[in-house]
Amino acid sequence: MASARGQFSSRFGFVMAAAGSAVGLGNIWGFPTQAASNGGAAFLIVYLILAFTLAYPALMAELIIGRHAHANAVTALRGLSHTPAQRRFGGAAGTIGFVVASLILSFYAIVAGWMMAFCVSSITALLGSAAATSWLTSFGFMRNELGVLAFMGLTIMIVARGVQNGIEKWSERLMPMLLFTLVVLVAYVLSLEGAMEGLKVYLLPDFQRALNPDLIIAALGSAFFSLSLGVGTMLIYGSYLDDKQNLPLIGGLVTGVDISIAVLAGFLVLPAMYVALHNGVEIYTAAGDLLSEDTLIFTVLPELFASMGLAGTLVSVLFFFLMSIAALTSSISMLEVPVAYAVEEHDVGRQSATYAIGGIIAVFSTIILLNFDTLFGLVITVTTRYSQPLIGFVFCIYVGWILHRDQLLQELRKGNPDIERGLFWKIWPWWVRLVCPAIILAIFARSLLA
Ligand code: PHE
Repeated sequence: MASARGQFSSRFGFVMAAAGSAVGLGNIWGFPTQAASNGGAAFLIVYLILAFTLAYPALMAELIIGRHAHANAVTALRGLSHTPAQRRFGGAAGTIGFVVASLILSFYAIVAGWMMAFCVSSITALLGSAAATSWLTSFGFMRNELGVLAFMGLTIMIVARGVQNGIEKWSERLMPMLLFTLVVLVAYVLSLEGAMEGLKVYLLPDFQRALNPDLIIAALGSAFFSLSLGVGTMLIYGSYLDDKQNLPLIGGLVTGVDISIAVLAGFLVLPAMYVALHNGVEIYTAAGDLLSEDTLIFTVLPELFASMGLAGTLVSVLFFFLMSIAALTSSISMLEVPVAYAVEEHDVGRQSATYAIGGIIAVFSTIILLNFDTLFGLVITVTTRYSQPLIGFVFCIYVGWILHRDQLLQELRKGNPDIERGLFWKIWPWWVRLVCPAIILAIFARSLLA
């Protein structure tokens, strides 16, 4: 079986794919707006601390389990278990992981479909078709459904091609494109009137807001979502890594790219909002808070672009294109989780597994769309707030308590023979055993109470 598995062909390919998974709507949109409403640079500092103290160690847990087992989460956790009870527990956690990955994809595809619709609407606006533009930007079942189908179609096409020819190749193409588009947009928006005001909100720290416990918990949750943890995505990507790779270094690179892009996106989104304010667009609620995330992206920014004439339309195409790419490199990593499970555990061909599972997820998305008011928020809360931390907890427990210390050391030594002498080996094993589970349980308990 092992020889038939896919594998990333290079370190660059892996880092692009894993960073592509991590960098998504969460970073480019979620992070900057959260920072803006929660103490600016102070939030950034809290986020950075959490990313390195919790998310990075948890990412390492997934990468190590994945590479050690060279298998999907269900097979991997079962294989690591010593007792029948552990086997059942591990199998159940892995199974919940792939269900959660599929559910996340079902709401993510809806949002990504909107991004694509807005991107196309800027093109139809350029072509002068007012009717198409207004259809594409108004909330309606057909528009939403077509968005889901188009986005799922792209995701399926890439995943069906496999690890090297699909995921790796497309991540290598799309990620540099994403970075380039982001830098061009930042440079342009910073040159506009009003942008500096936004920079101040982003960069001036307000520690009182950032040290609020609720906020720290929110930042933890978003660090988890942002690094794609707790669904088995990083575990499955880790399982496609060869033994020559130095895992702590590679995990550090992925975390670094993820955080840098989130921070860079802050230099786009915040200044853009204040340019909008400068152009007369409302960005605050009556209570003086910033408008909520979805209102901002689908109303404030389009209004801003509209107030900028032709240049605004071009910027709008670029912006929504950027969001669509960010979403696509994440969605392929979500679909890979159930697909890898089906291929490895049930001996289904990759193509058929991808089409069938992708199709089922599109049906889920449709069900959510048909019951939007009840299901959309519910699915997001259940998956990202409750399930991700809990499954992340299980991964830490497996690495910290069930995998033997020498198995861990052997795995880490493969790409880094001197690992024992470094700081990583002195801190990480007990950190992932004690500190990570304790923090995750604390978030979980807190979110249950909230
Ligand atoms: N990390 C992605 C983002 O920031 C979301 C994601 C979650 C991707 C879980 C894969 C798995 O948008």
